[in-house]
Amino acid sequence: MIVTLFYESSTRTRVSFEVAMKQLDGDVVVLTPTEMQIGRGETIADTARVLSRYVDAIMMRTVDPDRLNDLARYATIPVINGLTKNSHPCQLMADVMTFEERLGPIVGKSIAWLGDGNNMACTWIQAAARFGFELRLACPQVLSPPDAIVNWARENDATIVQTLYPEEAVSNADCIVTDTWLSMGDEGEDHRYDLLRRYRVDDRLMSLAKSEAIFMHCLPAHREEEVTALVMDGPKSAVW
Ligand code: NVA
Repeated sequence: MIVTLFYESSTRTRVSFEVAMKQLDGDVVVLTPTEMQIGRGETIADTARVLSRYVDAIMMRTVDPDRLNDLARYATIPVINGLTKNSHPCQLMADVMTFEERLGPIVGKSIAWLGDGNNMACTWIQAAARFGFELRLACPQVLSPPDAIVNWARENDATIVQTLYPEEAVSNADCIVTDTWLSMGDEGEDHRYDLLRRYRVDDRLMSLAKSEAIFMHCLPAHREEEVTALVMDGPKSAVW
């Protein structure tokens, strides 16, 4: 039995956890903080202690990584990261599986990340160290992923290339990945649109990658913002 606890909205993570638990003959309790005693001031630590006595695991989605870490510190059962502002490892595992289904082992391949240096970008950086692919990041300077995570990955033998130019990142790549320009918690940061426009994935950028290259996006997608509809819904898209 798992509790899935959502401080933020979710479509795929919620449904995939729920379906998976049921397919494994388990079950799920889906919670949001407003309907729990957390909404009346109960601490995460107390919530962790109590839930640990009822269920086998907790998955939490929250933009605040400290909240997830608190839950993990006080829970005595496994805690799964269902997305924070810093990372989204469940999505990354699905992306690596999709890549390998389409193009074989990801080790030694080149993945181009375009756009915001957000939670997904950071998780791709961690994955480059774990799975041994080359990651090329093209992000505006002010939206680059934190140096600390890039340095950590390089110290762990990852090949990470950083550039301001999307053409350089996608050249001969096996896969181009992007994400929304406004992640959860970025609401109102409209200045991002001007910064990110040149990183939109379109047919011209796709044509600079390998002929068999695929496009990936964790969703939700905003067509004609970070990706054109032609790419998103085109033959190279592995989004679905
Ligand atoms: N970067 C996005 C991913 C959504 C699944 C966000 O954090 O909103």
